[in-house]
Amino acid sequence: MKILVTGGAGYIGSFMVKTLLDRGDEVVVFDSLERGRKEAVDTRARLVEGDIKDRLALEKLFKEHKFDAIMHFAGFISVEESTKNPDLYYQNNVVGSKNLFEIGISVGNVNKIIFSSSAAVYGNPTKVPIPEDHPKNPTSEYGKNKLAVEEILKDLRNINPQISFTCLRYFNACGAALDGNSGEMHVPETHIIPLAIKAIMEGKEFSLFGTDYETIDGTCVRDYIHVLDLVEAHILVLKRISESNGGLYYNVGTGNGFSNKQILEEIEKVSNKKLNILEKPRRAGDSDELVADSTNIRWELGFDPKYSSLETIIKSAWEWHKKQN
Ligand SMILES: NC(=O)c1ccc[n+]([C@@H]2O[C@H](COP(=O)([O-])OP(=O)(O)OC[C@H]3O[C@@H](n4cnc5c(N)ncnc54)[C@H](O)[C@@H]3O)[C@@H](O)[C@H]2O)c1
Repeated sequence: MKILVTGGAGYIGSFMVKTLLDRGDEVVVFDSLERGRKEAVDTRARLVEGDIKDRLALEKLFKEHKFDAIMHFAGFISVEESTKNPDLYYQNNVVGSKNLFEIGISVGNVNKIIFSSSAAVYGNPTKVPIPEDHPKNPTSEYGKNKLAVEEILKDLRNINPQISFTCLRYFNACGAALDGNSGEMHVPETHIIPLAIKAIMEGKEFSLFGTDYETIDGTCVRDYIHVLDLVEAHILVLKRISESNGGLYYNVGTGNGFSNKQILEEIEKVSNKKLNILEKPRRAGDSDELVADSTNIRWELGFDPKYSSLETIIKSAWEWHKKQN
């Protein structure tokens, strides 16, 4: 197949590109490189530097290439930044996505779209593990952006039932290639694993926000999914929407939660070093526990995460960060 991967120079997108190429697919990456890295894009893929806010660039892209499907990873991803700058996030994540879908469908005749959504669409859960039909009450602009894009896809399919889409609601993507040659690098970095690994490597303090949550050890619990498993979920979805048409929503997580303290302890174990932890008050908006009910993707698509043990996640991330120094 010929696949367009937007955001293919970013963390998850670059893993997707490699997996598609290894399967024999043809891949075009469309990325502004604003938050991604050219070096992360596999040299077998064609890289088109462009912004999804730029309608002319998208028209040119879809006139030049005939794609079988779009995998849409491009977007800004910081919850905190989205709260400080909602317009930047709305324009980039919502308006940009709408441009991509409209032009992809009208100019490119594409009718298969896989969208990187997020657990942030749920907001504070009233039920854990969180099923896909849980109420959607996002508490951040970022979460609202993701829900708005899901709605756009639903509207587009209502207008044209030939369009198949899947919204994959990722929980916490993490980990690196097993050989440590590629991994997570965000600017700004907000994720606990890379932040704690950097702190331990540089001998700096690590701020742990909140130790009085209603969880096993008082720290927040999250569902961590290794990036290689996450990418595999996209392959299963691609197969599914190639066989039959639909508008689908799946959580992508393991269904198991790890607390912040468990993550930090595993980092200390793998690195054989002691982390200098500074306990701080809770941050506004952090929920006690966010764990996916991933029954649907397991049963309907046969999703079976292989790399999401805490040990594999931390070991692979550690190897990647070691190579960056
Ligand atoms: N990392 C996670 O834990 C997580 C969790 C849930 C959802 N997601 C979603 O998955 C997707 C990928 O996340 P990631 O962690 O790889 O992020 P990332 O920041 O590493 O990659 C995003 C890529 O999109 C590109 N981009 C951003 N805006 C663009 C635009 N307007 N036009 C073209 N390219 C643009 C960036 O340059 C970057 O290369 C995002 O949509 C994110 O919201 C990620």
